[in-house]
Amino acid sequence: MQRCQRWGPLASVSWVLLRTCRAHSGLPSTACSSPERQQEDGVWKDFSSRLATGPTFQHFLRNASVPQEKPSSEVDDPPPYLTVDELSGRQRKVYLETYGCQMNVNDTEIAWSILQKSGYLRTSNLQEADVILLVTCSIREKAEQTIWNRLQQLKVLKSKRLRSRVPLKIGILGCMAERLKEEILNREKMVDILAGPDAYRDLPRLLAVAKSGQQAANVLLSLDETYADVMPVQMSPSATSAFVSIMRGCDNMCSYCIVPFTRGRERSRPVASILEEVRKLSEQGLKEVTLLGQNVNSFRDTSEVQFNNAVSTNLSRGFSSNYKTKQGGLRFAHLLDQVSRIDPEMRIRFTSPHPKDFPDEVLQLIHERDNICKQIHLPAQSGSSRVLEAMRRGYSREAYVELVHHIRESIPGVSLSSDFIAGFCGETEEDHFQTVSLLQEVQYNMGFLFAYSMRQKTRAYHRLKDDIPEEVKLRRLEELITVFREEATKANKAFVGCTQLVLVEGLSKRSATDLCGRNDGNLKVIFPDAEMEDVTNSGLRVRAQPGDYVLVKITSASSQTLKGHVLCRTTLKDSSTYC
Ligand code: 5AD
Ligand code: SF4
Repeated sequence: MQRCQRWGPLASVSWVLLRTCRAHSGLPSTACSSPERQQEDGVWKDFSSRLATGPTFQHFLRNASVPQEKPSSEVDDPPPYLTVDELSGRQRKVYLETYGCQMNVNDTEIAWSILQKSGYLRTSNLQEADVILLVTCSIREKAEQTIWNRLQQLKVLKSKRLRSRVPLKIGILGCMAERLKEEILNREKMVDILAGPDAYRDLPRLLAVAKSGQQAANVLLSLDETYADVMPVQMSPSATSAFVSIMRGCDNMCSYCIVPFTRGRERSRPVASILEEVRKLSEQGLKEVTLLGQNVNSFRDTSEVQFNNAVSTNLSRGFSSNYKTKQGGLRFAHLLDQVSRIDPEMRIRFTSPHPKDFPDEVLQLIHERDNICKQIHLPAQSGSSRVLEAMRRGYSREAYVELVHHIRESIPGVSLSSDFIAGFCGETEEDHFQTVSLLQEVQYNMGFLFAYSMRQKTRAYHRLKDDIPEEVKLRRLEELITVFREEATKANKAFVGCTQLVLVEGLSKRSATDLCGRNDGNLKVIFPDAEMEDVTNSGLRVRAQPGDYVLVKITSASSQTLKGHVLCRTTLKDSSTYC
């Protein structure tokens, strides 16, 4: 299984060979006459003579046998055409910019962890960067357009770069690199490197190749890369919460979704390495972890042979899967159980799950463990069974609603959130009305609503027609947003008069005299920064700090926020927050 990822460098070397600096291709280029360029010419000649002898078959075989989990001090062997020194970042400054979902935020931390070990420095100042890397998203057309626009701005920055400085290098990482591959390099000659979501370990090599004036790419997807041994570097050291990636990729193939094509096959990270990361975060004093993946509750750790005897869990009632049910492995309920035992004062959340994988064991655990948040994201996508079938979601409206009832019975007080798409192929006004009525029926506490954006390669692209005019999609989206807000306001008003346990994050963005944090259901709670009793420390008077748990009496609610006043500082174990 290791092989797939380990062959990466070989395939991208052929890309490197195809793309040379204009100076080496005989075309006129002013940029290539600078002193750095002349110096680089020398490097290039040396480099190309070594490249000609190239990596041997034995080199890749040797790498293929390297176990995935390595002590962090151990450094990969450089490929034979690059020296350790050429692979080193030599304190060049990297500026990382993240777009899209939380998974990309986590990928940014992984990419940075790899570059840091390779001798790069981090900068948050674009002007002083030697390398600019954009971690990109492809889920909707608009997300990609944002990156194309950003590249135009970076082009100007690159062209204005002083010749006395090392040339600025620009890289595209993540889903857009994976989806568009050569198109990016052809359209934007100023892009120096491309790295798909499974190729971040290759970043030092890609940047070393780019230093010699060539474009370099590795967009190979892997069957087993989970970056299990790469400890992500937290961007903000004062944060109270962290995201822990537990799986990558997706096998569901919902007909509208590009993710299976950009992030590849579903694979789970070994339980042991997840527990180790959560333990470290707990030791650092973090108070909340969110287990992260495209389909977290389909988690299945098969890294050890004996795990394959584990009893397999069933799909939620009335749900089916687009692939043959997978057997064996340690499942999500086991992981959740183990993670929640690490630190009773640490809140555990997870996102994003698929509604098909909510066996009773998972619901039971959420109900009985104080530190597993009673909050479930249950992406419905549509309220119409006809559209759900076209989307290949594997459930009908009725099965979904039954699951909602079952979850509410199993976990009293649970907060629910969802994703919806407006204007999917063939969606009629009646289908749209069904979605409106599902929003009214469920009364979600939070919602993420999108207009449908047709993506190439998806099943919908090949088999269905994107026949809903843009203005109709937008009108339906607006209607969904309005209904969602009305219903969420009603649902959140139920908290008025209740006491909520809030994990304090810091100052409110809107007012310097207010603090903000989140309740168990992940709703934002705002309250005045006032002195209060500390019940954990014999009634001392204190002010709330980030990372504290406080009880807040809720006095008002809107569709997105709760407001109230603080009662006391407490612990997660000692608090009871339901009305
Ligand atoms: N168009 C619009 N929304 C989409 N999503 C996924 N693919 C598309 C698409 N092509 C939404 C789904 C998913 C969320 C992460 O993004 O609602 O749950
Ligand atoms: Fe996309 Fe469906 Fe996989 Fe979610 S479950 S990532 S929507 S294919």
